[in-house]
This record gives sequence, structure tokens and C-alpha cells, in this order.
Amino acid sequence: MKKIFLAAILLVAAASQSIHAETVVSDQMRAVRNDFQDRKFGIFLHWGIYSMLGDGEWVMHNKKLDRTEYAHLAGGFCPSWFSAREWVLLFKEAGAQYVTFTSRHHDGFSMWNSAASDYNVVKATPFGRDVIKELSAACAQEGLKLHLYYSHMDWQRLDYPTGSCQNCPHDPGTTNWETYYAFMNQQLTELLTNYGPIGAIWFDGMWDHKEKEFDWRLKEQYELIHRLQPKCMIGNNHHGAPIEGEDFQLFEQDLPGQNTAGFSKDQAVSNQLPLESCQTMNNTWGYSITDKNYKSSAEVIRRLVKAAGMNSNLLLNIGPRPDGQLPDEAVKILQDIGAFMHKYGSSIYDTRGGVVPPQPWGVTTQKGKKLYIHILNHEQDGKISNEGLERIDGSLSFMMPKGKYSIKQITRMDTGASITFRNESEGTRVFLHSRPTTDQTDLVLVAQLN
Ligand code: GLC
Repeated sequence: MKKIFLAAILLVAAASQSIHAETVVSDQMRAVRNDFQDRKFGIFLHWGIYSMLGDGEWVMHNKKLDRTEYAHLAGGFCPSWFSAREWVLLFKEAGAQYVTFTSRHHDGFSMWNSAASDYNVVKATPFGRDVIKELSAACAQEGLKLHLYYSHMDWQRLDYPTGSCQNCPHDPGTTNWETYYAFMNQQLTELLTNYGPIGAIWFDGMWDHKEKEFDWRLKEQYELIHRLQPKCMIGNNHHGAPIEGEDFQLFEQDLPGQNTAGFSKDQAVSNQLPLESCQTMNNTWGYSITDKNYKSSAEVIRRLVKAAGMNSNLLLNIGPRPDGQLPDEAVKILQDIGAFMHKYGSSIYDTRGGVVPPQPWGVTTQKGKKLYIHILNHEQDGKISNEGLERIDGSLSFMMPKGKYSIKQITRMDTGASITFRNESEGTRVFLHSRPTTDQTDLVLVAQLN
């Protein structure tokens, strides 16, 4: 009897602990996470001395470049056209609400005036300007949040305990986890002390250690971040389920639940935390002189809409050129997104994934009793025929799932024309009077729900 009683107490304690883990989030952080979800669209920037080689941010590793020789690139880094303000104005025009910048990538070069390492943009380059200082000022001025990418892995420092990386300094004689960990925390402290409010720290690279027993001491590091800036969110591109202390979940080159890029196998999607999908415009994160494989603007816009319909943000990447300007293709895509967001932004910002889950024909987003129906996939085989879509007398229909809502009224967001619909026993059938034109990126209908 005593044993049963004890077991019961232990069970209750365990249950309350896991509930505690869920509810321990402060109201303040809950509001921050909500605000992040409302923002929906951010710009990811991969910029560093690797940009000079025009071959992506992994060039040092992939080309097996000598670390000392690579470091000399810094002496030539002088991006004469760089203007944080011009960048930020372009992003704002495109409708982006935050910027995630690579403060230090795997090559170990710091893009701010770090006291913890002279291998940085102020001390080691003729440029001598603190990029993060200028970006944070421009973002603050234009109302965009600044998030900072920070690499756990380092290909330059000899104290970094190299994991699975093939072409990295790997000298057990110099490896020193204690000094490396202290170095990272000192840098994070600088970033969270000297540059105003930072919206998030975006970690990457801990997958370098595949061994389970390697302890990154994340708990302590996450606590440090939250102590320095209680409103700073933490995300980590570890490709797994979020762990304690993380405020949002990241998906690399895929929408939540997909695994086309191969990073998200077994990556369960959190239904508690905000989601963010980061994607490139071409195939490379850092500037590539040869990668012209840009997606069309329509495709990028559809990805943004799909992300919103899957309750996720889109973090869209740009690899600025070594001269400090953005690639022309990126600028064009930004302008096109801007034109779309100007018209349809209210169907994206502040919404959550709608009551109708993602369908083969598109997605829905929702704000209160307004359901935005985004028809994205209307030209497959030149016909409007997809699962869930039927042609009826030359018009188009789909079913709303039966649920707690019914539809009062539907209009086209572009023309305001009202759309005929019928609430039927199995759901709602919606009739479009005309086919969307094939150049239509996203046909948005607005349904008023009861
Ligand atoms: C990967 C790459 C890295 C890139 C990141 C962005 O982790 O290693 O270069 O910054 O993806 O998601």
C-alpha cells in the first residue's frame, strides 16, 4: 500500500514537472513569441569574408583551404558599397519584418568588433566598420527586429573540439573545450550587451558532433542568453525536436513536416512553439558567383504563403556580394514580394494557419473570423483539377471541412467580387465564377466565418 502511495506521488510529481516545463514560459516571452509569429517574413543574410571567393559559405571546408591562408582574406575585405540602411529599406519595402544576420559563421570570422577575438571585421580588415552595429541601428530605425545567427562549430580556432568535420583543424594537443565554451559565451555576451535588443539567437552547427555523449552545455548557454536579454528568443538548427530553453523551431530548406532537403528526417513539428522555415532564393546561402539557379518571384511568394498556411514564418536568404551590394536577382525578387505584400499582406501578417489544413490546391490562413483561402495550385496540367477541387459547370469548387465554423460571405481579395458558395451537410462548397489566370501567383479569397 505504502509502495503504491509512493509511486502515485512520484507519478503526480513527474506529471506536474512536465506541465511545469510547458507553462514556465513567462507572459513576456509568450508575447514575444506571438509577435514573432505575427511578423511572418524575415530576411536571412549570409555575409562574411567567404563572400569574396564567390563560392558559398562552406568554401573553406569544401575546397580544403588552409586556415591560415584563408584568414588573409580578411586583409582584403572592403565592401565599399555596403549600406545597412539601404539593405534594411529594401527589406522593409519587400514586407520583411526582421533580419537574421550571420554574426559568425563556421569559418570563425566575427562580423562585429569582438573583444574576444581580433579575427573580426573591425580589427582584421581595412574596412574597419562594425557591421552589426550599423545593421542594428538601421533595423531599429525602420522597426525591423534583428536576429543573430551564431555558429557553434568553428573551423579556425584550434581550441574548438572538432567533431565529424573532415577538413577541420583536428589537433587533440590544442583542443580545449573549456576555453572554447568560455569564448562563445563571451561573444554572446558582447552581442547581447552592446547592440540593443536582439530578437533571437539562431544557433547552427552543433550537428558537427554526432556522438550523443558530447555535451554542448546548452542549458547554461541558453540561460545566459535569457538572463542577458529576457526577450531574446533562442532557436537552434539542430534538425531535431526543440529542446528546453528554445523558443522557436527551425526547418532548413523545407516547410514544417516536409523533408525534401534531407535535413528533417524524424523532425517532429512542435505544436507549442513558433515555427520558422529558412530557404534560399537560389541554391546557396553565401554569395555564389555561379549559382544563378534562382526561383521565380512567384515561386518564392508561394513559399511564403504556404509557410503562413502551415503556421510558419519564412526566413528568406540572401547572400550579399563582397562589394556590399545584394545580387540583382535578389533585389528583383524582393521588389516582387513587396508588390504582392502591399496588396495581400493582410492575408499573411498576424495570421495563423487556418481551420482548413493545407490542401493540394493551396492553404488557408486565419485571423479571428476571417479565413483567407489561398489558391496556389491552379494550373497543374493546364487544368484546374486537383484532389479537393472539382470542376462543376465550368466553375471550381472545394469543400470546407465540417467544423465549428460556417461561412457567411466570400469575396475575392483582389476585386472584391463576391463568390458564390453553399453550406452543405459535408461542408462548404465554393464556386469560382472564372478560372484564376495562369499568371496569378496566389488567388486569395476572403471568407467571413460565423
Ligand atoms: C546549414 C549550413 C550553413 C547554413 C545553414 C542555414 O546548417 O551549414 O552553412 O548557414 O544551413 O540554414
